[in-house]
Amino acid sequence: MANDQLPIVEARSADDRVMTMLRERALGAMARAYAPYSGFRVGAALLAADGSITEGCNVENASFPAGICAERGAVAGAVARGNRDFDSIMIATEAEEPTPPCGICRQVLEEFSPRLLVVSVTTGGREARWSLEELLPRAFTPKSLDRR
Ligand code: THU
Repeated sequence: MANDQLPIVEARSADDRVMTMLRERALGAMARAYAPYSGFRVGAALLAADGSITEGCNVENASFPAGICAERGAVAGAVARGNRDFDSIMIATEAEEPTPPCGICRQVLEEFSPRLLVVSVTTGGREARWSLEELLPRAFTPKSLDRR
Protein backbone atom coordinates (compact mmCIF):
# COMPACT_ATOMS: atom_id res chain seq x y z
CA MET A 1 0.00 0.00 0.00
CA ALA A 2 1.38 3.45 -0.91
CA ASN A 3 2.19 5.88 1.87
CA ASP A 4 -0.60 8.31 1.03
CA GLN A 5 -3.16 5.52 1.26
CA LEU A 6 -2.27 4.56 4.80
CA PRO A 7 -4.59 5.59 7.61
CA ILE A 8 -3.32 8.92 8.90
CA VAL A 9 -1.63 7.61 12.06
CA GLU A 10 0.41 4.99 10.21
CA ALA A 11 1.32 7.38 7.40
CA ARG A 12 2.72 9.93 9.80
CA SER A 13 4.58 7.44 11.94
CA ALA A 14 6.26 6.17 8.77
CA ASP A 15 8.26 9.41 8.54
CA ASP A 16 11.30 8.36 10.54
CA ARG A 17 13.18 11.63 10.19
CA VAL A 18 10.37 13.60 11.78
CA MET A 19 10.02 11.01 14.54
CA THR A 20 13.76 11.12 15.23
CA MET A 21 13.65 14.90 15.50
CA LEU A 22 10.60 14.82 17.77
CA ARG A 23 12.28 12.24 19.99
CA GLU A 24 15.38 14.42 20.36
CA ARG A 25 13.33 17.51 21.12
CA ALA A 26 11.17 15.72 23.69
CA LEU A 27 14.20 14.23 25.43
CA GLY A 28 15.87 17.65 25.46
CA ALA A 29 12.79 19.21 27.04
CA MET A 30 12.65 16.38 29.58
CA ALA A 31 16.19 17.22 30.69
CA ARG A 32 15.01 20.78 31.45
CA ALA A 33 11.94 19.69 33.44
CA TYR A 34 11.44 21.21 36.87
CA ALA A 35 10.28 18.25 38.94
CA PRO A 36 11.90 18.53 42.40
CA TYR A 37 8.85 17.12 44.20
CA SER A 38 7.96 14.05 42.16
CA GLY A 39 11.37 13.44 40.64
CA PHE A 40 9.42 12.37 37.52
CA ARG A 41 10.70 14.40 34.59
CA VAL A 42 8.58 14.65 31.45
CA GLY A 43 9.33 16.27 28.12
CA ALA A 44 7.00 16.81 25.19
CA ALA A 45 7.48 17.86 21.57
CA LEU A 46 4.37 18.88 19.70
CA LEU A 47 4.42 18.79 15.90
CA ALA A 48 2.07 21.28 14.21
CA ALA A 49 0.58 20.87 10.74
CA ASP A 50 2.97 23.55 9.42
CA GLY A 51 5.96 21.45 10.53
CA SER A 52 6.93 23.54 13.52
CA ILE A 53 7.80 21.83 16.79
CA THR A 54 7.05 23.28 20.23
CA GLU A 55 8.49 21.75 23.38
CA GLY A 56 7.12 21.53 26.88
CA CYS A 57 8.28 20.06 30.17
CA ASN A 58 6.59 19.55 33.49
CA VAL A 59 6.97 22.51 35.83
CA GLU A 60 6.13 21.67 39.44
CA ASN A 61 5.44 24.02 42.29
CA ALA A 62 5.74 24.06 46.09
CA SER A 63 1.95 24.38 45.99
CA PHE A 64 1.60 20.97 44.34
CA PRO A 65 -1.64 21.50 42.33
CA ALA A 66 -0.09 24.55 40.66
CA GLY A 67 2.29 22.31 38.71
CA ILE A 68 1.70 21.77 35.00
CA CYS A 69 2.34 18.78 32.77
CA ALA A 70 4.75 18.77 29.86
CA GLU A 71 2.03 18.18 27.29
CA ARG A 72 -0.08 21.14 28.36
CA GLY A 73 3.00 23.34 28.50
CA ALA A 74 3.70 22.41 24.89
CA VAL A 75 0.12 23.15 23.82
CA ALA A 76 0.19 26.57 25.52
CA GLY A 77 3.48 27.45 23.86
CA ALA A 78 2.31 26.31 20.43
CA VAL A 79 -0.99 28.19 20.63
CA ALA A 80 0.91 31.33 21.65
CA ARG A 81 2.99 30.91 18.48
CA GLY A 82 -0.18 30.76 16.39
CA ASN A 83 -0.50 26.99 15.95
CA ARG A 84 -3.77 25.22 16.66
CA ASP A 85 -3.60 22.29 14.30
CA PHE A 86 -1.39 19.48 15.57
CA ASP A 87 -0.18 16.33 13.89
CA SER A 88 1.55 14.45 16.69
CA ILE A 89 3.06 14.72 20.13
CA MET A 90 6.16 12.95 21.41
CA ILE A 91 6.39 12.38 25.17
CA ALA A 92 9.67 11.44 26.85
CA THR A 93 10.21 10.08 30.36
CA GLU A 94 12.73 8.08 32.35
CA ALA A 95 10.08 5.54 33.33
CA GLU A 96 10.43 1.79 32.74
CA GLU A 97 7.47 1.76 30.34
CA PRO A 98 6.31 4.51 27.94
CA THR A 99 3.65 6.60 29.67
CA PRO A 100 0.52 7.96 27.99
CA PRO A 101 -0.60 11.54 28.74
CA CYS A 102 -2.71 12.10 31.86
CA GLY A 103 -6.45 12.58 31.55
CA ILE A 104 -6.37 16.37 31.75
CA CYS A 105 -3.73 16.55 29.01
CA ARG A 106 -5.77 14.19 26.81
CA GLN A 107 -8.70 16.58 27.12
CA VAL A 108 -6.54 19.61 26.28
CA LEU A 109 -5.05 17.87 23.24
CA GLU A 110 -8.54 16.85 22.10
CA GLU A 111 -9.62 20.49 21.91
CA PHE A 112 -7.32 21.13 18.96
CA SER A 113 -6.53 17.81 17.33
CA PRO A 114 -8.85 14.84 17.81
CA ARG A 115 -6.84 12.90 15.23
CA LEU A 116 -3.53 13.38 17.02
CA LEU A 117 -0.84 10.69 17.01
CA VAL A 118 0.59 10.22 20.52
CA VAL A 119 4.03 8.66 20.80
CA SER A 120 5.76 8.00 24.12
CA VAL A 121 9.42 7.11 24.54
CA THR A 122 11.67 6.30 27.46
CA THR A 123 15.32 7.09 27.96
CA GLY A 124 15.78 3.30 27.95
CA GLY A 125 14.70 3.20 24.31
CA ARG A 126 11.17 1.86 24.68
CA GLU A 127 8.33 3.33 22.63
CA ALA A 128 4.55 3.14 22.41
CA ARG A 129 2.08 4.75 20.00
CA TRP A 130 -1.60 5.49 20.32
CA SER A 131 -4.18 7.61 18.56
CA LEU A 132 -5.76 10.23 20.80
CA GLU A 133 -9.09 8.71 19.85
CA GLU A 134 -8.18 5.44 21.55
CA LEU A 135 -6.83 7.24 24.62
CA LEU A 136 -9.93 9.43 24.95
CA PRO A 137 -12.94 7.74 23.37
CA ARG A 138 -16.30 9.51 23.38
CA ALA A 139 -14.64 12.80 24.25
CA PHE A 140 -16.32 15.99 25.29
CA THR A 141 -15.37 18.35 22.45
CA PRO A 142 -16.11 21.93 21.36
CA LYS A 143 -18.98 20.43 19.36
CA SER A 144 -20.49 19.08 22.56
CA LEU A 145 -21.34 22.67 23.48
CA ASP A 146 -23.54 23.10 20.40
CA ARG A 147 -26.69 22.30 22.32
CA ARG A 148 -26.25 25.09 24.85
N1 THU B 1 3.22 14.60 34.23
C1 THU B 1 3.34 15.14 32.98
O1 THU B 1 4.10 16.09 32.75
N2 THU B 1 2.62 14.58 31.98
C2 THU B 1 1.75 13.55 32.14
O2 THU B 1 1.02 13.22 31.23
C3 THU B 1 1.72 12.80 33.41
C4 THU B 1 2.35 13.50 34.56
C5 THU B 1 3.99 15.21 35.32
C6 THU B 1 3.15 15.90 36.35
C7 THU B 1 4.06 15.84 37.57
O3 THU B 1 4.97 16.93 37.49
C8 THU B 1 4.84 14.55 37.37
O4 THU B 1 4.70 14.20 36.00
C9 THU B 1 4.35 13.40 38.22
O5 THU B 1 2.99 13.20 38.08
